[in-house]
Amino acid sequence: MNALTAAIAAALMLAPSAAFGAEPKGKVAAPASMPAAVDSKTAADLKRVQQIVATRCSLCHGVDGESASPVYPRLAGQHPEYIAKQLADFQSGRRKGTMNDQARDLGEDDMRALGIYFGSKPPLAYPVRDEDLAGVGRYVYQKGNAFSGVAACASCHGPKGEGTVQLPRLAGQHAVYVEGQLKEFNKRERTNDNAVMHAIASKLTELESRAVSVYISTLK
Ligand code: HEC
Ligand code: HEC
Repeated sequence: MNALTAAIAAALMLAPSAAFGAEPKGKVAAPASMPAAVDSKTAADLKRVQQIVATRCSLCHGVDGESASPVYPRLAGQHPEYIAKQLADFQSGRRKGTMNDQARDLGEDDMRALGIYFGSKPPLAYPVRDEDLAGVGRYVYQKGNAFSGVAACASCHGPKGEGTVQLPRLAGQHAVYVEGQLKEFNKRERTNDNAVMHAIASKLTELESRAVSVYISTLK
């Protein structure tokens, strides 16, 4: 854990709404605008970032973190700590892409508050359209592939894709985005995971990658 994530974790513990980190996000009904019972500094930070969301982030990720286009990841219900870490990684250039420009002028408080903002929004999931494909995905996700040495995704990301403070929530994410990230991990274009996902993605066949991405999009 680096200094920033440690600071965020500490700040979230202090906030009376410690429930944020602890509750499985999929089950919690999100408050209308901002999470209840946050300390006054967090409340002020949340107010400030609402402006940033309205004028910038919402163009691609939607006001409620439910991006309309599947190339933009859904942020609703994502762990606040993970969102803040990704923003810090985009700012430092550890993770590369469109987001580098977006993260450039954000302060640590903004990153933390943007995480809380999007993390408190209710996540959506896709309906199952192709049961056979989703079934292959379920097998890979829940059990891995012992023949090729793929670890079960569930062992880290949770049986329902709920993630943890350190690991991203995957449930309900756009399949197109998930598949794209698996490709980036495989080609080592995304390297801010300490090579953990590279080892996994490099062993997935194209069918497995597609199937597991489709299955993930249906988890809630
Ligand atoms: C021009 C479109 C665009 C705008 C505006 C934008 N984003 Fe993004 N965002 C993206 C794309 C594209 C990705 C996926 C990056 C990749 O593929 O590497 C992304 C990824 C992210 C991620 C990582 C999500 C994950 O699951 O790993 C976070 C967090 C994020 N954006 C937050 C924000 C915030 C906060 C703002 C406003 C300050 C914002 N974005 C503005 C396009 C945008
Ligand atoms: C050993 C633990 C581990 C296992 C097993 C694992 N992952 Fe991951 N996953 C990670 C880590 C670590 C990250 C990166 C977190 C970060 O960027 O800070 C990650 C990130 C991801 C992301 C990026 C999410 C986003 O929002 O951008 C996707 C997609 C993903 N994993 C899919 C999978 C799939 C599919 C499997 C199973 C085939 C799997 N993972 C198995 C640890 C794991």
